[in-house]
Amino acid sequence: KYNVVIVGGGSTWTPGLLQSLTKNKNVFPLNRLVLFDIDAERQKIIGEYAKVLFKEKYPELDFQYTTDKEIAYKNMDFVFCQMRTGGYAMRELDEKIPLKFGVIGQETCGPGGFAYGMRSIRDMLQMIEDVRKYSPNAWILNYTNPAAIVAEAINRVYKDDKRILNICDQPVNLLRSYGRLLDMDPYEFEPVYFGLNHFGWFTHLYDKFGNDLVPKIKEIIKRQGFKPVDAEQRDQSWLDTYSIVKDMLEDFPDYLPNTYLQYYYYPEYKVKKLDPNYTRANEVMDGREKRVFAECRLVAEKGTTAGSSVVHNDAHGDMIVEVAESIAHNKNRIYIIITENNGLISNIQDDAMVEVAAILGVNGPRPFGVGKIGTFYKGLMEQQLAYEKLTVDAYFEQSYEKALQALTLNRTVVDAKKARKILDELIKANKGYWPEL
Ligand code: G6P
Ligand code: MN
Repeated sequence: KYNVVIVGGGSTWTPGLLQSLTKNKNVFPLNRLVLFDIDAERQKIIGEYAKVLFKEKYPELDFQYTTDKEIAYKNMDFVFCQMRTGGYAMRELDEKIPLKFGVIGQETCGPGGFAYGMRSIRDMLQMIEDVRKYSPNAWILNYTNPAAIVAEAINRVYKDDKRILNICDQPVNLLRSYGRLLDMDPYEFEPVYFGLNHFGWFTHLYDKFGNDLVPKIKEIIKRQGFKPVDAEQRDQSWLDTYSIVKDMLEDFPDYLPNTYLQYYYYPEYKVKKLDPNYTRANEVMDGREKRVFAECRLVAEKGTTAGSSVVHNDAHGDMIVEVAESIAHNKNRIYIIITENNGLISNIQDDAMVEVAAILGVNGPRPFGVGKIGTFYKGLMEQQLAYEKLTVDAYFEQSYEKALQALTLNRTVVDAKKARKILDELIKANKGYWPEL
């Protein structure tokens, strides 16, 4: 039986995660679960909901929610980390500031991702330091965004710590969506994937007989479009990021692209589609945030979960629990994870944090190499990688110059004068969150 802490326990993604833990209690049994958040109010609402859920479905569980680090991190086996430094208020600025200058406003791509990355690094490094003080051997499963920047920063400080895993749920979301297209079980797929976080491609997807399903998936998407597996619970804006995959395949038909590539393939088109006065952060604050907290309050008030559904996106919660189980029980299941390149992509530098498929067991990920990649993909990746590295340099060196270089290299920006204007506004907006540049 395992002890688990969820960092960012007051997140609206937490109820889904709690349900996954409950659903999987026979395969990944918990002894103790702690929710930890720095925001006591949000934490309490989700925590009180959890109490009701566990009273009904997990009575043997030792459960607690807290804002105290020592309670949170002591004697843990797994740390699930999903913090959001600055919350949705800062996400809103990340998205709106670039849009004022006609540049993509997105939480992980472009200047928004840059700003969020500069905020996340300090808190993530602090979290690891705190966890290691109380639980030197715990597995830290991190899906805090922007994962590429966070992974790069962590790798510079904690290179030798083999129990930190950075992972994103979008590849799993895509695998599930391919499963829906083909009417097949996505758990049977064996993917080949390469890239950076929110910047990668499926080159092959094998079924259990060794057939590559990629050609068939491309053909179906070109004919009938593409939808997320959980289309019913998603906003229109999310559906739009899937339907455009058809265009991406028409322009670059080699591989199945991660949906996030659209911001780099089509920055002009995407900017036109984004509303500078009402962004995804607004959509989430008005939608999911209100809905989930209202439902949680109601459950706590009524003392029963009967008739309530507070889950948002099963894939996210399921993935992280299944990943933990694959590690804990040495299942060696295949996941797409973020790891240091070291030749996996043979014509990309060794110290890049790349996203590839890996088997995942008690010794951590054993990634699969993909060999040499083509010039187009190498060019895209290297530009993005340089942006990511310079962003992390800017953080550690407190360098305005590096920050300006990073933003200029980002495909969503390109123009250095524009990069400077955006950077100056982001610096003002992030006062207190960023190191001084
Ligand atoms: C996917 C990505 C995450 C991202 C999320 C955004 O799951 O992999 O990195 O945070 O989408 O979702 P939201 O609903 O908050 O825009
Ligand atoms: Mn992600």
